[in-house]
Amino acid sequence: MKAAVMGYGTVGRGVCEILTEKNGSLSAKCAGREITLGRVLDIRDLSDTPVKAVWTTQFEEIVNDPEIGVVVETMGGTHPAFEFCMRSLQAGKSVVTSNKQLVAEKGEALFAAARENNVGFRFGAAVCGGIPVIRTMFYGLAANEILSFSGILNGTTNFILTKMIKEKTSFAAALREAQEKGYAERDPAADIEGTDACRKTAILASAAFGTHIPAEEIHTEGITAITSEDVSYAAGVGSKIKLLGRAKRLENGKIYALVSPAIVPDTELISGVEGVYNALCIHGDKVGDILLYGQGAGREATASAVTADVLDCVRNPGFDETYSWKNREEGRLIPYEDMTLRLYVRGYASDVKTAVSGIRETFDGAVLLERENAPENEIAFFTGAAKERDLRENISALRCFAAASVIRVEE
Ligand code: HSE
Repeated sequence: MKAAVMGYGTVGRGVCEILTEKNGSLSAKCAGREITLGRVLDIRDLSDTPVKAVWTTQFEEIVNDPEIGVVVETMGGTHPAFEFCMRSLQAGKSVVTSNKQLVAEKGEALFAAARENNVGFRFGAAVCGGIPVIRTMFYGLAANEILSFSGILNGTTNFILTKMIKEKTSFAAALREAQEKGYAERDPAADIEGTDACRKTAILASAAFGTHIPAEEIHTEGITAITSEDVSYAAGVGSKIKLLGRAKRLENGKIYALVSPAIVPDTELISGVEGVYNALCIHGDKVGDILLYGQGAGREATASAVTADVLDCVRNPGFDETYSWKNREEGRLIPYEDMTLRLYVRGYASDVKTAVSGIRETFDGAVLLERENAPENEIAFFTGAAKERDLRENISALRCFAAASVIRVEE
């Protein structure tokens, strides 16, 4: 069987390299069925690259080639990626993509087309780069009800936070380095504002709970408001700030999902996940907690996941119902503010004594925090546990105090 790769960017190039270099060993893993690189689609000039012999700028040369059985989409974005994937599925070709935006936004339509044409549609590389999180949820944990997951799903932001915490690098310099290393999205706002982690959370929640969870329904906050003051207060209580994507199935069947920075105690394994590495903790009703860890971005790691999906399509070219979810159900997500949690709050007091006594009176179990060289009017504290909506109302109502930063505490 031949594979076509659409998009010769960071990931596409990695897939071409693996398919070419490992050709023999990959075929051996498909019961001897050969898998070769048939076409590479890109509007850029590839005449000076190792794939020049199979380069095309015409999608028609892929969709009309009967020898091509698997189409790999590593273009990014939804147009024309969606149209090309749909036409490939309709032409009886399996599709493998690393494109989380495509899966998060168009998953329902792509599953329907794959099901109708009895071909594969796989996207293991769309979440956590090289870590096999999707296949773990669909296959490895098949005996479980997945009750919750929580993870570091974006390598760029974890790389930036690690550089800021360990090397005191500025936000801008750390982001530039992430871009140079090929970790960041084409528009890095998607990384730092949490959109990328939100799409991944939506895909994971859909896989975990079996129903399409739209990314736009998940409340999302990025890392752009994190300051060195917050990093210091977190360090003072043996914790780090991480951007987390998490979701939970409640006893009444409703789903809670959220993407935001969180203060994570160093006693949690996830707190030690540094640089471009991602980690996902999944809680299943039978298996308990499992933790998956590895490189969440980068050419070879992501291409590794794409290639594994290509091999699945060679071995099992038909549609796999286990590797899918049902269409969106109205009212499955609860408002994020209904969840009970603790908040970290940092702000400034016009009258410190009044503000502190207000904090103590208002928040049962409040803990005041300290850091070196804090201005006299700066106050930071943890609230006790209560509904997020109530906590936020109470923070706004504090006398002589204006909050500058509010971060959730991961328990
Ligand atoms: N920009 C993404 C990240 C790439 O940094 O995690 C991998 O999805």
